Amino acid sequence: MKSHHGVTEQKASRAADPTIRLLLERGSCRIFRGKKIPAKVLEQVLEAGVRAPTGGNLQPYSIIKIENRSANAKLAKLCGQPFVGQAPVNLLFCIDWRRLERWSKLSDAPFTATSSFRHFWISFQDTIISAQNICTAADALGLGCCYIGTVLEFFPALKKMFKLPRGVFPVVLLCIGYPKAKPVPRKKLPVKVMVHSERYRELSDKELFKAFDE
Ligand SMILES: Cc1cc2nc3c(=O)[nH]c(=O)nc-3n(C[C@H](O)[C@H](O)[C@H](O)COP(=O)(O)O)c2cc1C
Repeated sequence: MKSHHGVTEQKASRAADPTIRLLLERGSCRIFRGKKIPAKVLEQVLEAGVRAPTGGNLQPYSIIKIENRSANAKLAKLCGQPFVGQAPVNLLFCIDWRRLERWSKLSDAPFTATSSFRHFWISFQDTIISAQNICTAADALGLGCCYIGTVLEFFPALKKMFKLPRGVFPVVLLCIGYPKAKPVPRKKLPVKVMVHSERYRELSDKELFKAFDE
């Protein structure tokens, strides 16, 4: 079976709109130039993150911004992914129920986030949506990003390293920096496979094979 996660390239899009072009031509960046991200640029990118949609406008997440070189080198070692240490900035996205719990207490409101899976589900989505807003903003400003999902496996180490209190737990890491070369857009399953009109339609074995083969 051919891997869907291979390195096959997508043809460049011909979209006229620059935002659509940005979205269609995006790709994860794993090779960074040594150039530092100017504070003003990073600030805009982070602003785009905290402006993201969030259930009930609660923003139940925190972002740990890591610019310290030795901390980034340590993260790279932990994750077993050397390029993490080459990125000038790493952002650790965490669900943050501590801030919400404290706020609830101070305003004499009930705090129920820890009592249902639904709350976890929404907080998780909020956190990722913010991260993706940051990716798009970063791309727009000539930066490149790559998610690192393996942080989930190093919870105790990260908790210690970044002094995460109870109620704050990592979801994903995002490396950001100036790309050495523009990342090549990867081939994706087409819209006609991913989008179902009005109801779910199961692909035939032949269609399924063709979709992944292509
Ligand atoms: C939640 C998540 C976790 C990921 N974790 C890693 C990772 O640990 N290391 C890595 O090199 N890429 C990681 N990626 C990037 C994916 O490999 C990449 O998005 C995928 O191969 C598609 O390529 P593209 O982003 O260039 O379209 C992750 C992406 C997501 C969304």
